[in-house]
Amino acid sequence: MEPTRRPWYVEFFGEDYLRLYKPVLTPERTALEVALVVERLGLPPGSKILDLCCGHGRHAVPLANLGYHVTGLDLSRVFLDRARAAAQQAGVSVRWVHSDMRDIPFENEFDAVLNLFSAFAYLENQDEDQKVLAQVHKALKPDGRFLIEIIHRESLMRRLLPFGIMRHDDGLLELEERRFNLLTSRMEVHVTMIEPSGGRTEYNHAMRIYTLTELAGMVEAAGLRLEAYYGGLDGSELTLDSRRMVLMARKPAD
Ligand SMILES: C[S@@+](CC[C@H](N)C(=O)[O-])C[C@H]1O[C@@H](n2cnc3c(N)ncnc32)[C@H](O)[C@@H]1O
Repeated sequence: MEPTRRPWYVEFFGEDYLRLYKPVLTPERTALEVALVVERLGLPPGSKILDLCCGHGRHAVPLANLGYHVTGLDLSRVFLDRARAAAQQAGVSVRWVHSDMRDIPFENEFDAVLNLFSAFAYLENQDEDQKVLAQVHKALKPDGRFLIEIIHRESLMRRLLPFGIMRHDDGLLELEERRFNLLTSRMEVHVTMIEPSGGRTEYNHAMRIYTLTELAGMVEAAGLRLEAYYGGLDGSELTLDSRRMVLMARKPAD
């Protein structure tokens, strides 16, 4: 019998991902993102924040350091182990939860739920993404806010290249073959890592790319009220050229 293949988002988010994204996820970028998230939310220290799909804790740990009560949820045990170690090293306490984003085991708990750096729209179809938003609604306190930062479709469509190539500092050659599936709206990427020794490792990943119209509709359908949208965490205007899209929504108090 054929072994069942694990979903790409289980295979991909491990040490190789961290290696591939090292040039992008610099400490300076992360520090700026944390400062901008704090500015956007305007929450006092002591507020309860869920970092949904927290990865290796690059936002959760500094937010805890600023005095927030942070919970980080992720499906990758490799990343959660890293996050735990980073929190320990920083001397802060963060509650780490190993779970799928469709299963957030909290109710009326958080002042804010964050979902940063395109950590959404990986699931098998749009209904599954909608389930995530329903879970976000459940996890938020009345009046709590959801902040999501993802790729902006309008801009991506106009700059999409079918391939990419990058030489990393350690000699690794990274190749990307990209295909946009018009039927599913998924950006399907095949990644090949070629080591200086010639060794190869390959991955696939696929992310649904939403327009503002689509995501705003889904957020509202989950019972959240859209409050603002931006072209970045800096609160800039969303235009056709914005590479990133940020939505802020609130769980109504009534
Ligand atoms: C692009 S990374 C972003 C991580 C983090 N937010 C950051 O900014 O570095 C996406 C994260 O989503 C997590 N993830 C993927 N699928 C998931 C799922 N079904 N449930 C929970 N987490 C998931 C991955 O393990 C990974 O940590």
